[in-house]
Amino acid sequence: MLLGVNIDHVATLRNARGGVEPDPVKAAAVCEQNGAASITTHLREDRRHIKDRDVYTLTRTLTTKLNLEMAMAEDIQKIALEIKPYSICLVPEKRQEITTEGGLDVAGQLEKVSEFIKPLLDAGIIVSLFIDPAKEQVEASKKTGAQFIEMHTGAYAEAYGKKNEEAEFQKLKQAAQLAQQIGLNVNAGHGLNYVNVHRMHEIEGLVELNIGHSIISRAVFTGLPEAVSKMVELIK
Ligand code: PXP
Repeated sequence: MLLGVNIDHVATLRNARGGVEPDPVKAAAVCEQNGAASITTHLREDRRHIKDRDVYTLTRTLTTKLNLEMAMAEDIQKIALEIKPYSICLVPEKRQEITTEGGLDVAGQLEKVSEFIKPLLDAGIIVSLFIDPAKEQVEASKKTGAQFIEMHTGAYAEAYGKKNEEAEFQKLKQAAQLAQQIGLNVNAGHGLNYVNVHRMHEIEGLVELNIGHSIISRAVFTGLPEAVSKMVELIK
């Protein structure tokens, strides 16, 4: 499995003082130097962490792949079509949420999602849909023409070490199996950390794990190079 590092939390820290440090672009370079296969960043509609200029700079400076997380917003779609990241990951977005709370309801808005991603696919950008590990969402994702799904691992992460861990884990395993059977590539992410990530090895064929909060949190104590290379070691 490959590691994609989400650098949004570095921007959150920078924005706390409104200045220029710590620089998420510099953080992305350190992640790449220590084994990250891609860099994920979420340009939110309210621009609460990553700003437009970060995304434009990353486009020029990354040596791996940029995975741009975005909601179904026209202005962000326009930016994606301009910068042409390697991939985009379509996520739901609510203004009041602290982080992306649930998966995108693809089944409930099949036409809207399909229409939204069409120009991105036509531009050669790989499209991934961030969904809950549920049969109807996997099947609907395939119908949109997206090549990837990213399974929301938040419920598994919450349940880890508790009574419902196995049930949440099995949802991920079964959704991944179904997705692969119908020709989708599968990534996973959200809430994964150094303790709960090991069970991702039990799911065959996962391509990439996108991890942010636990890596940046560990980096406060150990430094970013150690935090990234430790996670790379755990998931390879
Ligand atoms: N994948 C997606 C689609 C996300 O929205 C997020 C959170 O921004 C992540 C992965 C990373 O989650 P975490 O920060 O909990 O590792």
